[in-house]
Amino acid sequence: MCGIIGYTGRREAAPLLLDGLQRLEYRGYDSAGIAIVDDGAIHVVKGAGKLSVLRDGLEGVYPPGRCGIGHTRWATHGKPTTDNAHPHLDCTGAVVVIHNGIVENYLELRAELTARGHALRSETDTEVLPHLIESYMDEGADLLTALRHTLGRIRGAHAIVAMSKREPGRIVAARAGNAGGVVIGYGAGEMFVASDLPALLPETQRVAFLADGEIACVTADAVEYVTAAGAPLQRGPQVVPFDPVTAAKGAHKHFMLKEIMEQPECIMDTFRGRAIFEPPAIALESVGMSDETLRRVSRVMLIGMGTSMHAAMLGRSYFERIAGIPAEVDNSSEFRYRDALIGPDTLVVSVAQSGETVDTLEAMADAKRRGAPQITICNTPGAQSTRVADGCVLTRCGPEVAVASTKTLTASISALYLLACHAGRARGVLDDARLGELIASLARAPGLMGRVLALGPKVQEIAHALAGYEDFLFLARGAQYPMALEGALKLKEVSYIHAEGYPAGEMKHGPIALIDRTMPVVAIALDDGTRDKMLSNIEQVRAREGLVVGIITEGDAELRGKCDEALELPPYAPLLYPLLSAIPMQLLAYHIATTRGCDVDQPRNLAKTVTVE
Ligand code: M6R
Repeated sequence: MCGIIGYTGRREAAPLLLDGLQRLEYRGYDSAGIAIVDDGAIHVVKGAGKLSVLRDGLEGVYPPGRCGIGHTRWATHGKPTTDNAHPHLDCTGAVVVIHNGIVENYLELRAELTARGHALRSETDTEVLPHLIESYMDEGADLLTALRHTLGRIRGAHAIVAMSKREPGRIVAARAGNAGGVVIGYGAGEMFVASDLPALLPETQRVAFLADGEIACVTADAVEYVTAAGAPLQRGPQVVPFDPVTAAKGAHKHFMLKEIMEQPECIMDTFRGRAIFEPPAIALESVGMSDETLRRVSRVMLIGMGTSMHAAMLGRSYFERIAGIPAEVDNSSEFRYRDALIGPDTLVVSVAQSGETVDTLEAMADAKRRGAPQITICNTPGAQSTRVADGCVLTRCGPEVAVASTKTLTASISALYLLACHAGRARGVLDDARLGELIASLARAPGLMGRVLALGPKVQEIAHALAGYEDFLFLARGAQYPMALEGALKLKEVSYIHAEGYPAGEMKHGPIALIDRTMPVVAIALDDGTRDKMLSNIEQVRAREGLVVGIITEGDAELRGKCDEALELPPYAPLLYPLLSAIPMQLLAYHIATTRGCDVDQPRNLAKTVTVE
């Protein structure tokens, strides 16, 4: 996760920026840099590696100036080199930008800017931003207006912070989508900008958070907030307590909500440096297995428990459809009693965010005794599962504090997708063109997830209306079926409402007997090849007076007309569509639970890590 810090005031900026970045080191990064505006010029210092390398390199001589921005980068586009590190400048050194997110249309913008004579020097997607801002400023726009115009040109989710030497003392910061937060810190005669509270708290506890589509224009004594369309916003600071829990929760009331909102960033962190865009390649650093072994296996057995098993179910589709290997999935605890016929020709892929779930560890031990090669997907570096398996793909979510898994679900799905791409390459079934498509599709996920997260208020409204019901059914088909199971699991664990997830085809084989006006049915009916069959299921529910909440594709007026409530998701690749549909499931459970007054972060009877059988 990239870290962002900015300062404008009366003190020297550089030491403050370096201290702020140091407080963000826990987020992980591969390079860092700062830029200071002083005396009509922008001074940039940056480098690959640790912040200490940058700091030591300065040998106590900091670029002078009282307004600056700093960044810790985790590479997505281009290697972690000094050239690719942020901040990035425009052609003439008049504009400087730091950024968290992915400019999805950077290739076309790069081509356009280059054709117009702009000289771009790095391999990053970010570098188009200062050049776009430069071009609007050259046409007469001020920095804020140029940033607004730039936001209108780029696709994806972003946090962007910029300065210009033409407007010394001013920092502009924007949040578009949910690729990372932006928080403004209020001091006395000085102001701060950051990606996260911990960067600011030792300096100020008076803060304001930017929402999606908001921009702050900050000077030492004032801050002006506007929408991306330029409409003024009224916003004052709130005071946050200076304690680690508040710092970790940021703008959110509960960890569960914070972790739901973090998903675009977690996905980005999980594929950064592993999905290579040009030429297309997969670089999984610790897969622990030769291509020869991956070529030799004749099937894949995926295992996990709870939410992790739901991710594993998608892993099965990925191994079959992307890597062309027959795959099955089982609940770890059941796998142990199957006396499964596995050996060196079966690749066992376990999914466990904690890496300590006893049933999964026991199943892995059994697989090891039988000589099966193993890879684990895990969110906890050094956990037991990573020590038992031959290799691992770590998801990079940071700690998941809420008991209900959210961000580790979607990050595990992304990691399985990368692993299937890696296996497909090793087995020679994925050519460059197909791999390029698969990678480009994954790279769209953070931006699209940001759009789905913006449905939050609508989901909250639906949750208020539904919070009094005691039974729910979740229906889906194909790749969405695991998300129906996940929707039911989330709802029952945080709200204590009885909920069942079913493949929609099963409905007529029993569950339909339950349906009447007291049973809301959440139907995932997206445009992914299952939509028409789901439409029939929805008709059958309606015929029995069931209340339908449809998760449908944007613009599907026919389905919208059939649902009592509809949540519309942007169109997306069928294989990855579950990354989007997971979000309304999580938000619905969260809002129903909070409406019912439940303790969402620590639901009764549940443990975050299940170490008993
Ligand atoms: O740590 P693990 O991923 O192995 O945990 C497995 C399950 O206990 C876990 O996914 C559980 O179902 C979730 N906390 C539910 O939200």
